[in-house]
Amino acid sequence: MARPKTIAIDGPAGSGKSTLGFLLAEELGYLYFDTGVMYRAVTLAAIQHGLAIEDEERIGQLAKRVRIDVRPPSVDDGRAADVLLDGKDVTWEIRKEVVNAAVSPVSTYAAVRDAMTAQQRRIAHENRVVMVGRDIGTVVMPDADLKIYLDASVEVRAERRYQELLARGEEADYDLVLASLRNRDRIDSGRKIAPLRPAEDAVIINADDLGIQEVLLKAKELAENV
Ligand code: DC
Repeated sequence: MARPKTIAIDGPAGSGKSTLGFLLAEELGYLYFDTGVMYRAVTLAAIQHGLAIEDEERIGQLAKRVRIDVRPPSVDDGRAADVLLDGKDVTWEIRKEVVNAAVSPVSTYAAVRDAMTAQQRRIAHENRVVMVGRDIGTVVMPDADLKIYLDASVEVRAERRYQELLARGEEADYDLVLASLRNRDRIDSGRKIAPLRPAEDAVIINADDLGIQEVLLKAKELAENV
Protein backbone atom coordinates (compact mmCIF):
# COMPACT_ATOMS: atom_id res chain seq x y z
CA MET A 1 0.00 0.00 0.00
CA ALA A 2 1.35 3.44 -0.91
CA ARG A 3 2.21 5.57 2.07
CA PRO A 4 2.31 9.36 2.05
CA LYS A 5 5.64 11.14 1.92
CA THR A 6 4.49 14.21 3.78
CA ILE A 7 2.02 14.38 6.62
CA ALA A 8 0.87 17.73 8.00
CA ILE A 9 -0.58 17.95 11.51
CA ASP A 10 -2.04 21.24 12.68
CA GLY A 11 -4.11 22.24 15.67
CA PRO A 12 -4.33 24.58 18.66
CA ALA A 13 -1.88 24.67 21.58
CA GLY A 14 -2.26 21.68 23.86
CA SER A 15 -4.33 19.53 21.49
CA GLY A 16 -1.75 16.73 21.64
CA LYS A 17 -0.55 17.24 18.06
CA SER A 18 3.15 17.08 19.00
CA THR A 19 2.71 13.76 20.83
CA LEU A 20 0.68 12.42 17.92
CA GLY A 21 3.27 13.61 15.40
CA PHE A 22 6.13 12.07 17.35
CA LEU A 23 4.44 8.67 17.71
CA LEU A 24 3.19 8.59 14.12
CA ALA A 25 6.64 9.47 12.75
CA GLU A 26 8.15 6.70 14.88
CA GLU A 27 5.63 4.14 13.56
CA LEU A 28 6.15 5.11 9.93
CA GLY A 29 9.91 5.67 10.16
CA TYR A 30 9.54 9.29 9.09
CA LEU A 31 11.32 12.38 10.35
CA TYR A 32 9.37 14.14 13.11
CA PHE A 33 9.49 17.90 12.82
CA ASP A 34 7.69 20.15 15.28
CA THR A 35 7.77 23.63 13.72
CA GLY A 36 6.65 25.32 16.95
CA VAL A 37 10.19 24.88 18.29
CA MET A 38 11.52 27.23 15.60
CA TYR A 39 9.17 30.05 16.68
CA ARG A 40 10.11 29.31 20.26
CA ALA A 41 13.85 29.47 19.46
CA VAL A 42 13.49 32.86 17.72
CA THR A 43 11.51 34.12 20.72
CA LEU A 44 14.23 32.93 23.10
CA ALA A 45 16.89 34.63 20.94
CA ALA A 46 14.93 37.90 21.11
CA ILE A 47 14.71 37.66 24.91
CA GLN A 48 18.43 36.84 25.19
CA HIS A 49 19.28 39.86 23.01
CA GLY A 50 17.21 42.06 25.32
CA LEU A 51 14.78 43.01 22.54
CA ALA A 52 11.29 44.20 23.40
CA ILE A 53 8.69 41.66 22.26
CA GLU A 54 6.87 44.45 20.39
CA ASP A 55 10.02 45.29 18.38
CA GLU A 56 8.90 43.65 15.12
CA GLU A 57 11.64 45.23 13.03
CA ARG A 58 14.58 43.99 15.09
CA ILE A 59 13.07 40.58 15.84
CA GLY A 60 12.46 40.15 12.10
CA GLN A 61 16.12 40.92 11.38
CA LEU A 62 17.21 38.57 14.14
CA ALA A 63 15.08 35.74 12.70
CA LYS A 64 17.09 35.93 9.46
CA ARG A 65 20.43 35.82 11.28
CA VAL A 66 19.95 33.06 13.84
CA ARG A 67 20.68 29.49 13.01
CA ILE A 68 18.16 26.98 14.31
CA ASP A 69 18.88 23.28 14.01
CA VAL A 70 16.44 20.52 14.89
CA ARG A 71 17.95 17.06 15.12
CA PRO A 72 17.06 13.59 16.39
CA PRO A 73 17.49 13.46 20.19
CA SER A 74 21.07 13.04 21.45
CA VAL A 75 20.07 12.81 25.13
CA ASP A 76 17.57 10.36 26.63
CA ASP A 77 15.76 12.82 28.89
CA GLY A 78 12.27 12.72 27.44
CA ARG A 79 12.96 15.10 24.55
CA ALA A 80 11.55 14.40 21.08
CA ALA A 81 14.37 16.28 19.33
CA ASP A 82 17.43 18.42 20.02
CA VAL A 83 16.83 22.11 19.37
CA LEU A 84 19.98 24.16 18.83
CA LEU A 85 20.09 27.94 18.72
CA ASP A 86 23.36 29.10 17.14
CA GLY A 87 24.88 25.78 18.13
CA LYS A 88 23.70 25.84 21.76
CA ASP A 89 21.24 23.26 23.10
CA VAL A 90 18.04 25.13 24.07
CA THR A 91 15.65 22.15 24.03
CA TRP A 92 14.29 22.78 27.53
CA GLU A 93 14.83 26.52 27.73
CA ILE A 94 12.31 27.14 24.92
CA ARG A 95 9.58 25.45 27.03
CA LYS A 96 9.83 27.99 29.87
CA GLU A 97 6.96 30.30 30.77
CA VAL A 98 8.78 33.46 29.54
CA VAL A 99 8.84 31.90 26.08
CA ASN A 100 5.24 30.60 26.28
CA ALA A 101 4.08 34.11 27.06
CA ALA A 102 5.91 35.77 24.16
CA VAL A 103 5.90 33.21 21.33
CA SER A 104 2.42 33.86 19.94
CA PRO A 105 3.01 37.59 19.33
CA VAL A 106 6.48 36.90 17.85
CA SER A 107 5.00 34.32 15.47
CA THR A 108 2.65 36.97 14.01
CA TYR A 109 5.59 38.91 12.49
CA ALA A 110 5.83 38.57 8.70
CA ALA A 111 9.64 38.52 8.54
CA VAL A 112 9.78 35.83 11.23
CA ARG A 113 7.23 33.68 9.38
CA ASP A 114 9.02 34.09 6.03
CA ALA A 115 12.33 32.98 7.50
CA MET A 116 10.83 29.98 9.31
CA THR A 117 8.57 28.88 6.44
CA ALA A 118 11.50 28.82 4.00
CA GLN A 119 13.49 26.54 6.31
CA GLN A 120 10.49 24.27 6.89
CA ARG A 121 9.85 23.84 3.16
CA ARG A 122 13.46 22.89 2.56
CA ILE A 123 13.26 20.21 5.25
CA ALA A 124 9.96 18.91 3.83
CA HIS A 125 11.51 18.56 0.38
CA GLU A 126 14.47 16.63 1.68
CA ASN A 127 12.69 14.12 3.94
CA ARG A 128 9.70 11.88 4.45
CA VAL A 129 8.29 13.96 7.21
CA VAL A 130 5.53 14.34 9.77
CA MET A 131 5.44 18.11 10.21
CA VAL A 132 3.51 19.63 13.09
CA GLY A 133 2.37 23.24 13.55
CA ARG A 134 -0.41 25.75 12.88
CA ASP A 135 -0.11 26.46 9.15
CA ILE A 136 1.52 23.34 7.74
CA GLY A 137 -1.49 22.13 5.73
CA THR A 138 -2.52 25.64 4.66
CA VAL A 139 0.80 27.39 3.93
CA VAL A 140 3.99 25.41 4.44
CA MET A 141 2.99 22.18 2.65
CA PRO A 142 -0.33 22.85 0.87
CA ASP A 143 0.41 19.78 -1.27
CA ALA A 144 0.98 17.43 1.70
CA ASP A 145 -0.22 13.89 1.03
CA LEU A 146 -2.20 13.76 4.26
CA LYS A 147 -3.42 16.65 6.41
CA ILE A 148 -4.73 16.13 9.93
CA TYR A 149 -6.21 18.87 12.08
CA LEU A 150 -6.24 17.77 15.72
CA ASP A 151 -8.75 19.72 17.76
CA ALA A 152 -10.04 19.67 21.36
CA SER A 153 -12.02 22.11 23.47
CA VAL A 154 -10.01 24.68 25.40
CA GLU A 155 -11.24 23.26 28.74
CA VAL A 156 -10.07 19.73 27.89
CA ARG A 157 -6.70 21.06 26.69
CA ALA A 158 -6.29 23.13 29.86
CA GLU A 159 -7.14 20.17 32.10
CA ARG A 160 -4.60 17.95 30.33
CA ARG A 161 -1.87 20.59 30.46
CA TYR A 162 -2.64 21.21 34.16
CA GLN A 163 -2.35 17.49 34.96
CA GLU A 164 0.94 17.30 33.03
CA LEU A 165 2.40 20.13 35.10
CA LEU A 166 1.29 18.48 38.35
CA ALA A 167 2.75 15.15 37.23
CA ARG A 168 6.09 16.88 36.61
CA GLY A 169 5.97 18.25 40.15
CA GLU A 170 5.55 21.83 38.95
CA GLU A 171 3.26 24.38 40.53
CA ALA A 172 0.09 24.80 38.53
CA ASP A 173 -3.13 26.78 38.62
CA TYR A 174 -5.91 25.53 36.35
CA ASP A 175 -7.41 28.99 35.80
CA LEU A 176 -4.05 30.42 34.76
CA VAL A 177 -3.42 27.54 32.35
CA LEU A 178 -6.90 28.07 30.85
CA ALA A 179 -6.39 31.83 30.48
CA SER A 180 -2.98 31.33 28.86
CA LEU A 181 -4.37 28.82 26.33
CA ARG A 182 -7.32 31.12 25.50
CA ASN A 183 -4.90 33.97 24.89
CA ARG A 184 -2.70 31.88 22.60
CA ASP A 185 -5.75 30.58 20.68
CA ARG A 186 -6.90 34.15 20.14
CA ILE A 187 -3.54 35.28 18.75
CA ASP A 188 -2.85 32.09 16.71
CA SER A 189 -6.31 32.09 15.08
CA GLY A 190 -6.72 35.84 14.74
CA ARG A 191 -3.45 36.84 13.10
CA LYS A 192 -3.45 38.14 9.53
CA ILE A 193 -0.70 35.93 8.13
CA ALA A 194 -1.11 32.16 8.16
CA PRO A 195 -3.72 31.98 10.94
CA LEU A 196 -4.52 28.68 12.60
CA ARG A 197 -7.34 26.98 10.70
CA PRO A 198 -7.93 23.58 9.12
CA ALA A 199 -7.01 23.27 5.42
CA GLU A 200 -10.05 22.58 3.24
CA ASP A 201 -8.84 19.06 2.57
CA ALA A 202 -7.75 18.32 6.17
CA VAL A 203 -9.24 15.46 8.17
CA ILE A 204 -10.43 16.92 11.47
CA ILE A 205 -10.03 14.73 14.54
CA ASN A 206 -11.63 15.94 17.76
CA ALA A 207 -9.71 14.56 20.72
CA ASP A 208 -12.12 15.64 23.49
CA ASP A 209 -13.14 12.04 24.16
CA LEU A 210 -10.15 10.23 22.69
CA GLY A 211 -6.91 9.17 24.37
CA ILE A 212 -3.62 9.49 22.51
CA GLN A 213 -3.57 5.81 21.48
CA GLU A 214 -7.02 6.13 19.89
CA VAL A 215 -5.96 9.27 18.03
CA LEU A 216 -2.78 7.51 16.87
CA LEU A 217 -4.79 4.55 15.58
CA LYS A 218 -7.02 6.85 13.52
CA ALA A 219 -4.02 8.70 12.12
CA LYS A 220 -2.29 5.44 11.18
CA GLU A 221 -5.38 4.26 9.33
CA LEU A 222 -5.50 7.54 7.45
CA ALA A 223 -1.80 7.30 6.57
CA GLU A 224 -2.27 3.77 5.26
CA ASN A 225 -5.26 4.65 3.11
CA VAL A 226 -4.05 7.76 1.36
O1 DC B 1 3.09 24.36 19.08
P1 DC B 1 3.78 25.34 20.02
O2 DC B 1 2.97 25.69 21.23
O3 DC B 1 5.17 24.92 20.37
O4 DC B 1 3.91 26.69 19.13
C1 DC B 1 4.44 27.86 19.66
C2 DC B 1 3.88 29.07 18.94
O5 DC B 1 4.40 29.13 17.62
C3 DC B 1 2.37 29.14 18.84
O6 DC B 1 1.87 30.20 19.61
C4 DC B 1 2.06 29.40 17.41
C5 DC B 1 3.37 29.46 16.70
N1 DC B 1 3.46 28.56 15.56
C6 DC B 1 3.07 29.06 14.34
O7 DC B 1 2.62 30.20 14.27
N2 DC B 1 3.18 28.30 13.22
C7 DC B 1 3.65 27.05 13.30
N3 DC B 1 3.76 26.32 12.19
C8 DC B 1 4.02 26.50 14.56
C9 DC B 1 3.90 27.29 15.68
